Formats: sequence, C-alpha cells, structure tokens
Amino acid sequence: MKTREISRRHFIKVAGAAAAVVALGNLAAFPAGCGPKKAAFSNKLPIPPLAKNSSTDPSKVAFELTVQKGTSEFFEGKSTATLGYNGNYLGPVLRAKKGQQVSVKVKNMLDEETTVHWHGVIVPGEMDGGPHQTIAAGSEWNPAYVVQQQAATVWYHAHPLGKTAPQVYKGLAGVFIIDDEESQALNIPRDYGVNDIPLVIQDRRFAPDGSLLYMDGPNDALLGMMGDTVLVNGAVSPILDVNTVKMRFRLVNGSNARVYDFTLSNKAKFSQIASDTGFLEAPVELDTLPLSPGERAEIIVDFSSNAAGDVVTLNSGNMKIMDFNATQKGNDATSIPAKLTSISKIDEKSAVKTRSFRFTGGGDRAGINGLRMNAKTGMDTINETVQVGDTEIWEWVDQTGIPHPLHIHGVHFQVLDRDGQPPPANEQGWKDTLLIDNSRKARVIMKFTQKGLFMFHCHNLEHEDEGMMLQYECK
Ligand code: C2O
Ligand code: CU
Ligand code: CU
Repeated sequence: MKTREISRRHFIKVAGAAAAVVALGNLAAFPAGCGPKKAAFSNKLPIPPLAKNSSTDPSKVAFELTVQKGTSEFFEGKSTATLGYNGNYLGPVLRAKKGQQVSVKVKNMLDEETTVHWHGVIVPGEMDGGPHQTIAAGSEWNPAYVVQQQAATVWYHAHPLGKTAPQVYKGLAGVFIIDDEESQALNIPRDYGVNDIPLVIQDRRFAPDGSLLYMDGPNDALLGMMGDTVLVNGAVSPILDVNTVKMRFRLVNGSNARVYDFTLSNKAKFSQIASDTGFLEAPVELDTLPLSPGERAEIIVDFSSNAAGDVVTLNSGNMKIMDFNATQKGNDATSIPAKLTSISKIDEKSAVKTRSFRFTGGGDRAGINGLRMNAKTGMDTINETVQVGDTEIWEWVDQTGIPHPLHIHGVHFQVLDRDGQPPPANEQGWKDTLLIDNSRKARVIMKFTQKGLFMFHCHNLEHEDEGMMLQYECK
C-alpha cells in the first residue's frame, strides 16, 4: 500500500537521522518496570488500572485525576523523576459509554500550569482541555460533557501552550475507552486486562543515572524529540504473557515525535479493527502498521498458531517494542466478524468550503501556512472561523520533508484522498489524526458540530510547541 511505503521510507530516514545524534546503546535490553520502588522489579507489561467511577447514577461516570509529580523505576535501582495522573507515570484508563455524562475533577498538584485535553472526544470548546483551559498550579478544573460518539480508543494528555511536549514526555498521558451498544455486542476480545489490552507506546532518552534527557540533541527541535528506549505503558520493552488466543491491543502512539511501523517478529499478519475514533467497517489484514504520534489503532493478534514457549516480538523497523510470551493453550470463544460497523461516507458535494493548509518551516520556524502559534505569540489570533453544522474539506500538504501528524480538535474526519488516490483501507474509517509527509497532500472532510475555540496542529509535540499550531472558532 502506497501510504505505508511512504511512511516506512520516512521512518528509515528519520530514524537514521536520529541515530546520528543519539548513541544507540543497549538500554532497551535492560530489564525494567515502573511503579513504586518497594515493589519487586519486573519487566512485565503494566496494565493501567481502570479509573474509579464514583457515580452511582448509571447515566453518569465521575472520575478524579490528580496531576502529580512522581518517581518511576524504569531501570532497576534507578529512580527517574516523572509526572503522572493519580500515580507516578501516565494515568488510569477512563471508561465511558456513549450517552453517559462524564465529569472529571482535575486537580493540578504541580508547581506549573497544565491542561487536560480529551484527544478524540467531541466536546464543546470550553470542555476541550486545550491551551485555553489552563489549570493553574494548585487549582482545579471540573469539566463535564456527554459522550456523543461511537466506541473508540481515545486518550487524554497535557496541552498547555508551549509546554505540551515536555509535560507529555515526563508522563502526562492516559487512555480513554469509549464503549457503545455495538462494541458491547461484537464477539471480539473485550475482557479488559485479559484479552483487551491498551499499549501506550513512547520512546524516551535516558541519562546513565536514569533521569530523562530532553532536547539535548542537535536535531531534536527539527525532527522532534526521539529516544532510543521504548516504553510501553511505562515499562522498558516489556513482556506480556499471553495464552494462545486472539488478543486485542489498543495501540496509542503517545510518543512526542516518532512514527512507528509495527510488525511482528514471526511475520504473522494481524487485523486492524479500529482507527482513531471508531471501528473500521471491516477488519483490515496487515503485516505492517504505520502509526504516527497521536494516532490510535486497535488490532487483533491471533496467537492460536503459536505453541507454549513461543516468543513473538512487536517491532518497529529494527527497534524492539515488546515481547509476547505464549505461555499456555487457551480457550477462545471470540471471533473477528467480517463486518464491524457501518460508516456513512460524507459526501464531498456536501462541503460548503475548502481550506488549504501547508506545513511550513522547520525547527524554530515550524508553522502552518507560515503562521505560528506558540508561547511567544499567545492565543489572541483566531485563524479560521467555521459554522456549526457546516461540512468542510481541509487540504493539507507538507512542505518540509519531515513527517507531520495533522490533528484537529473538536471534530472527527474522513480522509477523502492522498495525492488524489483513495486512502489505504485502514484510513477509510473515522480519524482525528493523519500523517502527512514527504511533500504529500491529503484532503480530509468533516462536519463541525461543537461551538467554541479549537486547536489544529501538528502532533509532533516539539513542532506543536514551536508553533505548528493554529486555532479555529466554530460559531
Ligand atoms: Cu493530542 Cu491538540 O492534541
Ligand atoms: Cu486533540
Ligand atoms: Cu510537524
């Protein structure tokens, strides 16, 4: 598939450039884990806990997220200063069903401001948690909204103006699972923590003492911050024991800048069942899955042809992500249905307007159409104005040769085409983030339903903080 080839080529190029500035040590081979220092050190995959729902009303869910400082043990005996939600690193999994009202009590215990953005959740502007909804050090934010969208794996992360990248890098991100009638009726693996597992994949760079290094390389501003060590759910290249059954993985690329090309070491094919914000109409069989920062993909890996004792490694290029250790035969009553959902295509003719955007400049000149929004410029300029109920086409082109994951707040979009060609099958569902690279062009179509101010930006977080971000107002 065309797009895959493009991003693979790009991955190699960028990974090569990064390798030139990062000494590729054997850090990734170290046994590792995370969590409180007292616990026995292990490199088992941590499964993030489901956030406690304090609501007794079934039509509501109520969560608490405390943004806090912590220390993590990524390497045995070494303590690393990190940030987390209700813990040392990352956060609990929020879970809500379509139609439910979500309320979150966010407490900022840091000594700097933060925000909590619901990436992929359709909410009014003032609930979005973007840079406008700052939570000052020591204060609280209490957003509430009704989930109006189909089942999906979305996520939440810090988003303060000019400081998104360092805060996410230190750990401020978490997974948010949205269910609906359809997702609860499908016979796919959906037993959380058993055969339905979130995998937050992040690359990091560490100093020998275990502390996180950030922006210490000459190309970090230009390419974004990439590291030589892969964390999955906060553990260095961990191991997950699996029965020889079908396993569903909710992949979240929570990295600041790295584009992955996921493959399995046994060359097995796997099925992608969902893209960023919902199921695909039908499963898409893949041997390579590109995933850029901010994007999500749900995949089902069938271990039934493995024997107990087999180790299957999830890789990206020559980078090891994690190991699956087949431990025992399991009973598997799940299946991968040929049809997952129906997606009504937004008709191109329903668009009332087309807007064109170019990713321009690199490093400290990173922008969109030559315009920039960052800590220096502030957020007073509203770049685009759209009307609630309108359908529009936004056309994106890269002019830098560096991959840019385009992300738009407040909407879900469909990809009309890439360089005039239909997108690959796994990009034909609902999305909120799309990789644009290699001077390529893509057109996305969407209908605006939420009022307020929303960001649209490159989800390479260093690019974003530099200014590759603008905002629109939906009236
Ligand atoms: Cu995932 Cu504007 O962010
Ligand atoms: Cu977002
Ligand atoms: Cu970018």
